[in-house]
Amino acid sequence: MRLVITGISGLLGSALAQTILQERPQWELTGISRKPPRFRPVSLWQSLDLTETDAVRRVVAQLNPDAVIHCAALSRPDLCEKNPNDSWVMNYLATRNIALACDRFDTELLHLSTDQVFYGADSNRAHDEYDALESGNVYGKTKIAAERYIKDHLRRYYIIRTGKIFGGPNDSKSFMHHAWENFSSGKEMACATDWAAHATHAEHLSRSLIAILERKTYGIYHVASPEAPNYLTIAHQILGAMGRPRTLAVPSTRRDVGLAAGRPPRCELSLKCWLWDFKNHLPPWQEGIKLFVRQRQEIKVPGHE
Ligand SMILES: NC(=O)c1ccc[n+]([C@@H]2O[C@H](COP(=O)([O-])OP(=O)(O)OC[C@H]3O[C@@H](n4cnc5c(N)ncnc54)[C@H](OP(=O)(O)O)[C@@H]3O)[C@@H](O)[C@H]2O)c1
Repeated sequence: MRLVITGISGLLGSALAQTILQERPQWELTGISRKPPRFRPVSLWQSLDLTETDAVRRVVAQLNPDAVIHCAALSRPDLCEKNPNDSWVMNYLATRNIALACDRFDTELLHLSTDQVFYGADSNRAHDEYDALESGNVYGKTKIAAERYIKDHLRRYYIIRTGKIFGGPNDSKSFMHHAWENFSSGKEMACATDWAAHATHAEHLSRSLIAILERKTYGIYHVASPEAPNYLTIAHQILGAMGRPRTLAVPSTRRDVGLAAGRPPRCELSLKCWLWDFKNHLPPWQEGIKLFVRQRQEIKVPGHE
């Protein structure tokens, strides 16, 4: 398999590249981003600005991949809310560019999307893969537009929606990362009790993406560890794995945390398409947290920092 991963310098792209190098070493991999990745595999990296339509077409033609996994995005909802134009350019226009190139060269596209495409929907039930999409924030709206473009123009695509992603070699932005940083230095952290979503370790998600690519059953999948814990529950799990007191996690509300972009209070995804095809759930989020803490503790070994 000849594979291109966009967003190789990001949280998921770097974890995915690492997982593929370990588990599918025979695959030919190229990673794309503007800045070089801070972690391996820098040798597989190609610089490209995905908002440049002609350059995207040229690079996809040169690389001639069997599939593109499109992880590149402006993925921080609060940043998108403050910079709506950048958000549309990156999340919609760049995705359109990749989709056009995939269409032209008959390349499969696996596109990463988000639970926030359901921001405006009823948050008292889990959302199905084919439920109507509606979002109340800029990030969600741009991701809905990207999904629509792909559905309208491509035949061989996968759209993968997930909740919070954390862990892997380049996580410097997730709630789990910030909690780890605060709790390691004994600092308290406000953790919302009225805000809940799926939480999936990047390595667990990466293995699922490989499985989906190999199965060739195109369409929409919700892929995440089951259950949608709130932030306080996640923080307690992190503290338990670190052996630190639970009191470092201070119960608070979404309003206290003060976010630019609105979020659904609870966003649970129905995982039924994944279960039909793959029979087993992803590892529970609690296992993902244990793995995350173990990996962070290993990095702290002297000489490896
Ligand atoms: N993180 C989450 O919790 C989460 C949850 C649900 C869904 N998702 C989705 O999952 C995917 C991966 O998210 P992530 O958290 O890994 O994102 P991320 O860490 O923010 O990484 C974004 C990547 O996009 C690249 N990028 C941005 N603008 C670019 C441009 N103009 N040209 C080329 N590359 C560009 C960045 O590299 P450069 O800046 O070097 O170009 C970076 O590698 C995204 O589609 C996101 O919407 C993420």
